[in-house]
Amino acid sequence: MIIGVPKEIKTAEYRVSITPSGVQELKRHGHSLYVESGAGEGSGFSDSEYLSAGARISDKKTLFKDSELIVKVKEPLPSEFRFIREKQALFTFLHLAPNKELTMLLLDKKVASFGYETLQKGDSLPLLAPMSEIAGRMAPLMGAYYLQKIYGGSGILPAGVPGVKPAKALILGAGVVGTNAARIARGLGFDTVAMDKREDRLQHLDEIFLGAVQTLPLDHSSVQEEIRSADIIIGAVLMPGGRTPHLITRGMLKTLKKGSVIVDVSVDQGGCVESTVPTTHEKPVYIVDDIIHYAVANMPGAYPHTSTLALTNATLPYLVALANKGIETATQQDMELRSALNTFDGDIMNEALKESLNEI
Ligand SMILES: NC(=O)c1ccc[n+]([C@@H]2O[C@H](COP(=O)([O-])OP(=O)(O)OC[C@H]3O[C@@H](n4cnc5c(N)ncnc54)[C@H](O)[C@@H]3O)[C@@H](O)[C@H]2O)c1
Repeated sequence: MIIGVPKEIKTAEYRVSITPSGVQELKRHGHSLYVESGAGEGSGFSDSEYLSAGARISDKKTLFKDSELIVKVKEPLPSEFRFIREKQALFTFLHLAPNKELTMLLLDKKVASFGYETLQKGDSLPLLAPMSEIAGRMAPLMGAYYLQKIYGGSGILPAGVPGVKPAKALILGAGVVGTNAARIARGLGFDTVAMDKREDRLQHLDEIFLGAVQTLPLDHSSVQEEIRSADIIIGAVLMPGGRTPHLITRGMLKTLKKGSVIVDVSVDQGGCVESTVPTTHEKPVYIVDDIIHYAVANMPGAYPHTSTLALTNATLPYLVALANKGIETATQQDMELRSALNTFDGDIMNEALKESLNEI
């Protein structure tokens, strides 16, 4: 198969979808690779490393024209739409639920689009997990940073000091993001509370943190109660493929402490806070009702070296399987790759996505 690796163009996105050693592995299986010039630079991989690994260095236009499968990190942006060919295959983070424009394009062009975030292995999401680990570990750091008074924060130090209480971190969703956020929030000295609707997630957190993180069931009235005393709130819920439910409405913002910080990690699926609007690393925060909102949709892009290695460790085996089997066979015979399929031959293949688009 001919595989193309474009340079990412999202603001401050420095990750790349395949490393030079990934190129070597795919070449070993008989595939050809085009890598856009400079694609790996932000993650520390030069064009000459890709050349030595056996890739052809190319420009964006040629790469899209000649490749059967495009492998990216983030979803295609409007300026890339014109490059996507009819019936081309795409393997990347897609997050289509809040993005009708891209969904319509993929349907019109009959693209076979595979979303990393919906690929399911049993109960887990193995291609989302490494990025969720990074975003989860970053979230309390961002919250702690923006609590500083100079950024509009309340001026409370996460760990407190002897004789002064620490700040409180509230984590909505105790999956991969939530668990990793809890770990770092505890490490920074936050009084940490994690909520989820699943009892088994709460039990898991209780066991691994030996009770140092308080766990609570997530329902409307307990969210209403807990947000009042929180200094940072981390949004970490997910309905795979679907739009995130709004757990904090616009009206509820008024009940939060002034200068508290919301880090809505789930922004890429629409966000779990009604006032969430996606932001970029260049301008990561904005303020609504005296509450700081951090809503960067590609948080791991801030640490591209770690993120690229973590992502490609997870994606490469699936990419090799997809390229070896071919698109048609992979979608018919490989249940894990099939679960990643969001659009195929003009149809939506993911049920949650179908429902979310009907709601828009
Ligand atoms: N902004 C970024 O850069 C970035 C990076 C990685 C992941 N994410 C996003 O973070 C979110 C969380 O990802 P994850 O890997 O932790 O997912 P996960 O599936 O591991 O965890 C999600 C948790 O949400 C819970 N949940 C779902 N709906 C709920 C509801 N209505 N009420 C209560 N709990 C509910 C689930 O029980 C689950 O425990 C996703 O939207 C993901 O796309 C964003």
